[in-house]
Amino acid sequence: MTDGVGPDARRPTPDHDWWREGVLYQIYPRSFQDHDGDGVGDLRGIIDRLDHLAGGPESLGVDGIWLSPFYRSPMADFGYDVSDYCDVDPVFGTLADFDDLVREAHARGLRIVVDLVPNHTSDQHPWFQESRADRTNPKRDWYVWADPKPDGSPPNNWTSAFTRRQTSAWTLEPTTGQYYHHSFLPEQPDLNWWSPEVRDAFDGILRFWLDRGVDGFRIDVAHRMARDPALGDNPDYGLAPDELLRTWTDETAPRDQDWPEVHAILRGFRTTLDAYDGRMAIGEVFILDPARLVRYYGDDDELHLAFNFSFLRAPWSAAAFRAEVETFERLLPPGAWPDYTLSNHDNPRAVSRYAPDGDLQRGRRRARVGALMLLTLRGTPFLYYGEEIGLADSVVPADRVVDVAGRDPARAPMAWEAAPAAGFTTGDPWLPLSADHSIVNVAAQRQDPRSSLAFHRELLRLRRSSPALRGGRYATIGGLPEDVFAYRRDAGSEGWVVLLNFGEAAVDIELGPDLADGRLVLSTDPDRPTGRVVGPRISLDADEGWLVRR
Ligand code: GLC
Repeated sequence: MTDGVGPDARRPTPDHDWWREGVLYQIYPRSFQDHDGDGVGDLRGIIDRLDHLAGGPESLGVDGIWLSPFYRSPMADFGYDVSDYCDVDPVFGTLADFDDLVREAHARGLRIVVDLVPNHTSDQHPWFQESRADRTNPKRDWYVWADPKPDGSPPNNWTSAFTRRQTSAWTLEPTTGQYYHHSFLPEQPDLNWWSPEVRDAFDGILRFWLDRGVDGFRIDVAHRMARDPALGDNPDYGLAPDELLRTWTDETAPRDQDWPEVHAILRGFRTTLDAYDGRMAIGEVFILDPARLVRYYGDDDELHLAFNFSFLRAPWSAAAFRAEVETFERLLPPGAWPDYTLSNHDNPRAVSRYAPDGDLQRGRRRARVGALMLLTLRGTPFLYYGEEIGLADSVVPADRVVDVAGRDPARAPMAWEAAPAAGFTTGDPWLPLSADHSIVNVAAQRQDPRSSLAFHRELLRLRRSSPALRGGRYATIGGLPEDVFAYRRDAGSEGWVVLLNFGEAAVDIELGPDLADGRLVLSTDPDRPTGRVVGPRISLDADEGWLVRR
C-alpha cells in the first residue's frame, strides 16, 4: 500500500538521468538462462526471461540491466579476458542476438549497460599476438613491456590480483626476452594507456556499442588503467595484496593502481559518452578509501557512478553501514550521486555472507533487511541476479571448480522453477545449482506473497511510485539503540522513515513525536501486519526492518 503515492507519479528527472533513480540488475550471462541447451547461459536465454525483470504484471520492476562480458573470449577469466571487443562469443550467441536483446529490453523500458574491459585484453587478442611477436612491431607499445632486472627477475615488485595462480604481475616472454605486465592472469596482459592509439581504439569500441543502442558501460577495474610509467616499486608493507588494499591512503598509494593519469582516461570516455544522449558509465573502482573513491566522479566529467566496495564489504552492523553511508554522502562532490550494491559476481552472495554460522534462514532474514536498506538509500541500487529470490551461494566440489579466484559459488545458475536444472538449462549446468533450488526459485515464490520475490517486487513498486525514495533527501536519525540504523527520506511533503535492526535481539525504540504518526507500510517480516499507525514506542524483532510512511 503506497498511502497516497500514485503509481503514475511523474518522474522528477528527465529521461537522460534515468540512471540516477533507476534500479539496475546485474546479469552474469553464463548463469541467467540457457536457450540452446549447452549448459551455459546465453543472450537468447536472457531475452526469454526479460518478462521476469520488466514489462509484465509479474515482473520484478527494475529499470536496467548490466551484462557482464559476452564478448569473444578464451574464457580464462570467463569473459573478462576479451579477444574481440566488437563481437559476441559464440557461446553467448551473435551480434544479431545482441541487437534483438537491446530491442526487446528497450521495448519493456529496460536500459542496457554493458561491461567494458579496458585495463587488459586476452593474450589471444590479435593486438597482443602482434605486440608479443617482436620488439619493433607497431603494437609493441600497446602493452607494458620491460626488461628483466640484471639477475633476470621481474622489473619490479608489483603483484597480480590473482595470487592463487601467480604472485608477480610480470611474465617473461621468451621470444623477445622482455616481461609483460598483467594485473590479473598472465592470459590477461595489461594495455598501455599512455599510447594514444590504445585510447583511439577504445574510443571506437565505445562508439561501436553506443551506436548499437547501449545505454551505458560498467568499466572494469577503472582505477587500474594507468600506472607509474617509470615502473617504480610499490612500498613493501610485508602485507598480502588483499590486506594492502585496506591500508590505502594518499601516502601509501601503490604505483600500479589509482595513478593520477587514470582520471584523464576517464574524462576521455566521458567526452565520448556526452556526445550521445542519456548514456552513463559506472566504474568498478576497487578503492576502499572513500576519499579517493569519490575522485572518480571528477568535476562531473568522469564517471557518473563509482561502485562503493567498502559498503559492500561492511560487516553486518548498524554502525558500520551508517558510517559508510554518512561518509559517502559527506565526501561526494556537489551534484554527484551515490550508488550501492550488496552482491556481485566477485563476492559471496549477501544471503550467504550475512548468514551467522552458515544459518541460511537467518542469512535470508538479514538479506531482506539489506534489501530494504539498498532500495531505500539515496543512490542508485544494483541488484545481482538471484538476489530477489534470496539465492544462496552454491556448494562447488573441488572437481567442479572452474574459477581462478574461488568465485564460482556466487555464480551459480539462476533458479527458475522446481524442474531439472531449475529450468536454467535442458543440458548440464556449467556450475552446480544452489542446494535449495527446488524451493528457492522464481515460480514457487510467484505464488507466495510471503516470499523474497514478493517482498522485492513490493519494495520496487513503492520506490518507483515515490519521488522521495527515488530522489529525495537523506538524513540519519540519531539517538536510537546502537543496533538500529535509521534514516529519513524526504521530498516536498512526502516523507519516509526506514528503521533497520542489525542486532541479535528484538529492540525497543522511542520515536520522536514527529515520527510517531507514521504508518507501517512494509516490514521485512511478512507476518507483521502493516497499515497501522506506528505510535511513539515500537519494537523491532531481530533481523527486522520497517518502512514507515509519514
Ligand atoms: C574485475 C571483474 C572480475 C575480473 C577482474 C579482471 O574485478 O569484476 O570478475 O576477474 O576484473 O578482469
